[in-house]
Amino acid sequence: MENRSSFTGKLGFVLAAAGSAVGLGNIWRFPYLAAKYGGGIFLLVYLILAVTFGFSLMVAEIALGRKTGLSAIGAFNKLNKKFKFVGVIAAIIPIIIFPYYSVIGGWVTKYLAVFVSGGAKAAANDSYFTDFIAKPAEPLVWFAVFIGITAVVVMLGVEKGVEKVSKLMMPILVILTLFIAIYGLFIPGAMEGFLYYITPDFSHFSATTVLAAMGQLFYSMSLAMGIMITYGSYMKKDVNLESSVHQIEIFDTGIAFLAGMMIIPSVFAFSGGDEAALGKGPGLMFITLPKVFDSMPGGSIIGAAFFLLVLFAALTSAISLMETIVSIFEDKLNFGRKKTCLLVLAGTFILGIPSSLGFGVLGNISVLGLSILDMFDFVSNSVLMPIVAFLTCIFIGYVLKPQAIIDELEVSAPFKAKKLFTVIIKYVAPVFIVLILISSILDVLGIFKI
Ligand code: PHE
Repeated sequence: MENRSSFTGKLGFVLAAAGSAVGLGNIWRFPYLAAKYGGGIFLLVYLILAVTFGFSLMVAEIALGRKTGLSAIGAFNKLNKKFKFVGVIAAIIPIIIFPYYSVIGGWVTKYLAVFVSGGAKAAANDSYFTDFIAKPAEPLVWFAVFIGITAVVVMLGVEKGVEKVSKLMMPILVILTLFIAIYGLFIPGAMEGFLYYITPDFSHFSATTVLAAMGQLFYSMSLAMGIMITYGSYMKKDVNLESSVHQIEIFDTGIAFLAGMMIIPSVFAFSGGDEAALGKGPGLMFITLPKVFDSMPGGSIIGAAFFLLVLFAALTSAISLMETIVSIFEDKLNFGRKKTCLLVLAGTFILGIPSSLGFGVLGNISVLGLSILDMFDFVSNSVLMPIVAFLTCIFIGYVLKPQAIIDELEVSAPFKAKKLFTVIIKYVAPVFIVLILISSILDVLGIFKI
């Protein structure tokens, strides 16, 4: 622990944290949730939560890590033995997310291969995606390819190399997304979709909207699962923590916003305003974008470039997920790094199989009306993460006390938003999370609806 490596400066820290934060959550998950949960109202709720909850929790987690110099389990344990279990629950979350995240990563890899090999036309077909994910073996092969690449990087410890490449790729991804979004707006019918995306319609508002937005926020910013605690433990004391959080937040939210702007208007354009098309769920990106590319001159090259960039974004996030899991087991099992990596790889593959088969062979299995993949996604994002977030707030608000976090921030610079931070962590967040969690669980169970 004495020789814990650290990020060289603020830029290094911000980029590394953003590499974990920006991924499929922004490009694949945010647009389909926004489409499903009422467009503008979801966007509005998300933005409000990002600058209040998201900000406060990210500050808290990074500060916990920097203060203790430890990852989640160790950090909670060091500050108060009774709260070690919060770190333990947090540590379970990446284990649930990584397999299904990689199933989607496999779909992205497949689409890259399709676009590179001249299959752009076929991919624009309505049933192309659903036919593909319904196959038993092929999606599993691409899933294996995706975790295979992730595991090789983690095993060889060449994350630095990947990070360098992604520093180059990320700006290109932003430009390309912006270009596709603007192009998409000119497709007849798209404007209506754009308005749906940016105009809040309060009749679409429900507790589930808030829960979905909150779950998405945690997921997208890699919060409530210990990852930011670990990143904080690598952060130097002289780096301005508050402004780093602002930068990560702007970056992460900006990319999610652009991705929504790229996908939702096109859904309207290609479905003729048919609202059912908005509820397509996890497949939305894979069904809509190929149609946009098909309608563009040079679309197959742009499509190939796009999926390559998304693959990089997904890989940097997957690497941070796998790193976390490997380090948990490394501490517990003492197997050595290579062996632990192989074990995690095998375990992840096995755990991912049901999610992958859930759209075909196991298609008739559904839990509360959700496919297997959606079910894992729901349990981690809408149940476990709010619980971890709640416990973190209680711990900081009433056991450790917010002042300890404020002091940690003020080692480097005055904490400008400390009042906001204290009020949110102590009162607003805990009450709100409990209310939302209860009402939406009742909602899913069909018992009660607000
Ligand atoms: N934040 C990542 C994304 O938006 C997903 C992720 C979650 C990555 C948790 C690491 C840990 O895609």
